[in-house]
Amino acid sequence: MHDKIEEIKKEIESFSADTAKAIEDFRIHVLGKKGKITQLFSDFRSVPNEQKKVIGLHINNLKNAALDKIQQLKEQIEGSSEQKSDFDLTLPPYPYNFGSRHPLSLVKQELYDIFGSLGFKIVEGPEIEDDWHVFSSLNFPDEHPARDMQDTFFIESNPDVILRTHTSSVQVRTMEQQKPPIRVICPGRVFRNEAISARAHCIFHQVEGLYIDKNVSFADLKQTLLYFAKELFGNDVKIRLRPSYFPFTEPSAEMDVSCNLCSGKGCGVCKYTGWLEILGCGMVDPNVLEFNNIDSSTYTGFAFGMGIERIAMLKYQVKDLRLYFENDTRFLDQFKSVL
Ligand code: PHE
Repeated sequence: MHDKIEEIKKEIESFSADTAKAIEDFRIHVLGKKGKITQLFSDFRSVPNEQKKVIGLHINNLKNAALDKIQQLKEQIEGSSEQKSDFDLTLPPYPYNFGSRHPLSLVKQELYDIFGSLGFKIVEGPEIEDDWHVFSSLNFPDEHPARDMQDTFFIESNPDVILRTHTSSVQVRTMEQQKPPIRVICPGRVFRNEAISARAHCIFHQVEGLYIDKNVSFADLKQTLLYFAKELFGNDVKIRLRPSYFPFTEPSAEMDVSCNLCSGKGCGVCKYTGWLEILGCGMVDPNVLEFNNIDSSTYTGFAFGMGIERIAMLKYQVKDLRLYFENDTRFLDQFKSVL
């Protein structure tokens, strides 16, 4: 027994390994179910009683020596793989870069909040549309020059399939599905065949609004838009309505707000007029109500529509429309503080 213990002791002392596999094999070799030390423990039963104390101690020491050796070798290989690593764990971490909301999302959210507080619900509709929803049901006669106001993207094989030029099409879809009272805003992307420049783009975003009920008047429209302008640009803002033309509203108007840069005194941004044009609006033409099966002798309504890019330009003094679409973080980072 003594000899065996000595022999295993030497084996443990002289063992060395540099792979986890070799260490595990060694563990099984000495401490596994049929390992050499395990075997000693079962042989121990036949040791005469008076020697049990001394031999038991030796076997236990042997087992601890084996465990220590295994532990030590494991630590060695872990340590060496750390040294081989390419990472310098003492380096400071890369700065974590938070993103920010896109200016168009900021303005859109503000419009949702303002009109939401007046009870307008958000509805959305398809970007790929047909002539009926974009033009005909909105009182654009066939061949009418008003269709040219909104240079449309058609597809050659089917001129009835178009990209919507305004989200008024969503107002039509709402009238098809809902009975008055209707109070909705329709946000979304719209498409017009325009050359891209600092002031025009072939893709932009709109929010249009529609309110239909009994006794809705032009005064309601004006008051709603005044409230909206004050919420968006501050209490001191003034509005003015200029007569205009849209096939789907009668009377129609364009709304200007007093220039928020020069407070109406006149500057480069407002081209020295003191006013900035921000939206189109009017009373829904009775023809449009009738096209959509709403009785125009009982119901009246108003509608308005605005470009989000234009409003963000005025609010944040963005000089070039193209900046919205370039994803240049130097531009986008400027909106971090806005929330
Ligand atoms: N649809 C019009 C446009 O795209 C905006 C508008 C909406 C005007 C509703 C009047 C009423 O320019």
